[in-house]
Amino acid sequence: MNTPLLGVNIDHIATLRNARGVGYPCPIEGALICEQAGAEGITLHLREDRRHIRDADVYEMAKRLTTRMNLEMAVTDEMLSIALDVRPAWVCLVPEKRQELTTEGGLDIANLPNLGEFIGQLQTAGIQVSLFIDPDIHQIDTAIALGADAIELHTGTYAHATLDDDTAKVADELGRIKAAVAHAKSKSDILVNAGHGLTRQNVAAIAQIDGIHELNIGHALISDAVFMGLEQAVKAMKQAFLA
Ligand code: PXP
Repeated sequence: MNTPLLGVNIDHIATLRNARGVGYPCPIEGALICEQAGAEGITLHLREDRRHIRDADVYEMAKRLTTRMNLEMAVTDEMLSIALDVRPAWVCLVPEKRQELTTEGGLDIANLPNLGEFIGQLQTAGIQVSLFIDPDIHQIDTAIALGADAIELHTGTYAHATLDDDTAKVADELGRIKAAVAHAKSKSDILVNAGHGLTRQNVAAIAQIDGIHELNIGHALISDAVFMGLEQAVKAMKQAFLA
């Protein structure tokens, strides 16, 4: 088994900063600590409403990260022009609704007009493109047909089932995710990432699926950091992949 890479989503450090309207805690400082502790990438979501990450964070982080920036964003002209200016290593396209607490469900790429052109513009600028989708065969086939470099499978339903101790649903969802990974890998060399709702308690079953390239984890890891410190939280999460 190959152990997946860890991408840390640092949005919640910015959420805490913004709650006070001051400059700390600084998400860039947090990202650098995560990199030092062994994170292989940093994920940040520039939302339309700028509720956590701000434009200046993205630009500053682009200068200072030593691993890879994975910029999550909606499929909009505004975000496209920012991405083309910043040129992160990766862009992950996600659905976005103003009222949601976090990204709910994957992008319905099968019903998004002009997505191929949008992806092409990013790729022409040297940016690799990932699509955040549900573990659904039709969405995966569409992602491959669109020429995406990666898919990120939404693990939220699995994660919620683990929190609810719903063992039947956990098994069901795990089966769905495994089948989705196997399907993607049997059809193409597209990279398969996963994320959403993963914790030290539920991550191992996902991390140990053959073919998973990277896991993007935010809320649980930053929550761990409140009690154990950020460096230790990154290390503990990587350790939990192997549990
Ligand atoms: N991957 C994507 C595409 C996301 O939108 C998020 C949440 O912002 C995550 C991963 C991380 O999810 P969580 O914060 O639940 O670990």
